[in-house]
Amino acid sequence: MNDPKRYLITSALPYANGPKHIGHLAGAYLPADTYVRYLRARQKDVVYVCGSDEHGAAITIQAMKENTTPREIVDKYHAMLKSNMADLGISFDIYHRTSEPIHHETAQEFFTALNDKGLLEVKETEQYFDAEAHTFLADRYITGTCPVCGNPSAYGDQCEKCGTSLSPEQLINPRSTLSGNEPIKKATTHWYLPLNLYEDFLRQWILEDHKSDWKANVLGQCKGWIEAGLQPRAVTRDLDWGVPVPLKEAAGKVLYVWFDAPIGYISATKQWALDNGKDWKPYWQDKDTKLVHFIGKDNIVFHCIIFPVMLKLHGDILPENVPSNEFMNLEGDKMSTSRGWSIEMDDYINDFVKKENGGDQLVDALRYYLTAIAPETKDSEFTWKGFQDAVNSELVAVFGNFVNRSFVLMHKLCSGKVPPFHNDLLDDTDKQLLLDIQQTKTTVENLIETYKFRDALTAVMDLARKGNKYMQDKQPWIVAKQTGDDGKPVMAAQQQIDNSLHLCLQLTANLAILINPFLPFAAKKMCHMMKVVDKMLEWENAGSAKLLKVGYSLRAPELLFRKIDDNEVAEQIQKLKTKSEQLKMDNPVTENDSAAEVLPQKAEIVFDDFAKIDLRVGTITAAEKVEKADKLLKLEVDLGSEKRTIVSGIALHFDPVDIIGKQVTVVTNLAARKMRGIESNGMILMAEDAGGKLKFVNPDEAVANGSGVS
Ligand code: 2FM
Ligand code: ZN
Repeated sequence: MNDPKRYLITSALPYANGPKHIGHLAGAYLPADTYVRYLRARQKDVVYVCGSDEHGAAITIQAMKENTTPREIVDKYHAMLKSNMADLGISFDIYHRTSEPIHHETAQEFFTALNDKGLLEVKETEQYFDAEAHTFLADRYITGTCPVCGNPSAYGDQCEKCGTSLSPEQLINPRSTLSGNEPIKKATTHWYLPLNLYEDFLRQWILEDHKSDWKANVLGQCKGWIEAGLQPRAVTRDLDWGVPVPLKEAAGKVLYVWFDAPIGYISATKQWALDNGKDWKPYWQDKDTKLVHFIGKDNIVFHCIIFPVMLKLHGDILPENVPSNEFMNLEGDKMSTSRGWSIEMDDYINDFVKKENGGDQLVDALRYYLTAIAPETKDSEFTWKGFQDAVNSELVAVFGNFVNRSFVLMHKLCSGKVPPFHNDLLDDTDKQLLLDIQQTKTTVENLIETYKFRDALTAVMDLARKGNKYMQDKQPWIVAKQTGDDGKPVMAAQQQIDNSLHLCLQLTANLAILINPFLPFAAKKMCHMMKVVDKMLEWENAGSAKLLKVGYSLRAPELLFRKIDDNEVAEQIQKLKTKSEQLKMDNPVTENDSAAEVLPQKAEIVFDDFAKIDLRVGTITAAEKVEKADKLLKLEVDLGSEKRTIVSGIALHFDPVDIIGKQVTVVTNLAARKMRGIESNGMILMAEDAGGKLKFVNPDEAVANGSGVS
């Protein structure tokens, strides 16, 4: 769609069930924000909506884990997510929430509209039920092995590993998440969206109409589902947390969270319109609106198959594109909050952004690295060392350095003012730079408009690199040495200096415009230094070499970015390890993190790192369950010269009586830590097989207690 009247941009509504990590940020929020900032700079009519997804089993299960109510969970995490996103410069026009009455009404009206038109099927079927918990088991309430990829922790509605959309009946070896029990079957009535009737529509709309503008990863997944044949999908659930189904005969039932959540985009638009005196309807009903959903790859089926069918039946517009990203791994492993192998947005903000004055530059540093390694076509990997290298050798050494040198030299050699440009001295090097500025504008906009943010950022950085090269070729500081009797540069030299610094400053202004969608804080700071208002950042200004007026005096340079030092990297890596080890001890096999795949290699360490760990063989002399902690055992371990109390998260795997007398390998110099009020002094090494079973790591023949392991 060329030059639509308006844009509606959405980012996946995150579940308000816990902190979100930087992989989420890189997947659905940062690229959308970059796109939106670009559109705003182009003066487009654009509304960017998001909000917290506050229904579904993700919330109720977390409430059980935290021993509290779903309401408290969503209030707590909604507040966290909203402020995290704002701190990271994600510029939503509204960050809404699906527990708001306006959302409930909107979702109910949507359901009623479809139901009244006879577009939903009503069926009574036998469904899985947990007899102990008295709950029907759908979605995250039931897990089992994915029939497609073998992931043993697939949910009842989706396998997050391969993205397949599932129904509980398809799971192999299903288990209740609530009790761990094998479920029984019980009859219940539900309303279904007959996706099977819309296969032809989807085939035409996705695989034909969008075959050349949607990303290959998205098209590939859609093709797979359509070709495998679609099934009717239940859009109601037997639960008490959610949007009540607006029918008398459906008392006690709520809408399926994946039915109500995407309608959250509509209710957020309505609320935004109410707050701003606008009409929400054209954004969802006028064909001249470009709707774009930014999501992570686990959400593709919902945004490309289910929601579009709902929108079509409801008479709304369809998305023009669904630019989905792949996943971002972390230091050699899959990012996962539940395993502690993640960098939470909240932690990054506290450890970097809020720790120092002008911490905004560290928001830009993160935005830079996440965009530079964005998983646009395949999974990518965040490493702290990579972050440090990107910031130090690209942001600081290339971009920051160019801007800084231009300002410092202008103050030193041109009295702090934009020098004139002497046209008669225009040479080929200048001409090339002017051409590069113009071409970069076109390149960047073409790339952003096709959702290639990573390449677009590279193009901006390449222009800054060209600026450094230009400065190096012109060497105004050397030219300045051609002085006359008065110690000032001779006239011809001053003119050359003027020209080169004039162009460097015009390039700086261009760089501010081009970097603005990616690094908004740096762009703002550059405007401050240039004493120009934000209006200068309008996209159409890019490409021009007349942005700064001759004779205009500019401020002193400010540091745009600071270096990341080795200690910060080491601290973060240590923090990551400690967090994941602690969680492993508390929770050796987590619900949705399968060990079924071969774990990727962790980042290389040097011998000295390994040598810091004190490993010894000991014998378990006593073992007992820890009260009110079904996963923990309190162990007494004889280490020869001493006995240690160690609390270990292995109670689900071993009976205390069976392990007394076993030799085990112990990390003896791990800092003591209290678990359930008991001080644990060490950690027992365990091997975990593909099915998540634990085994002790011990010598093949008994050795004296206290023997070292190396
Ligand atoms: O996967 C998730 O985190 C979902 N809460 C995304 C919902 S996106 C939209 F449909 F609301
Ligand atoms: Zn799977």
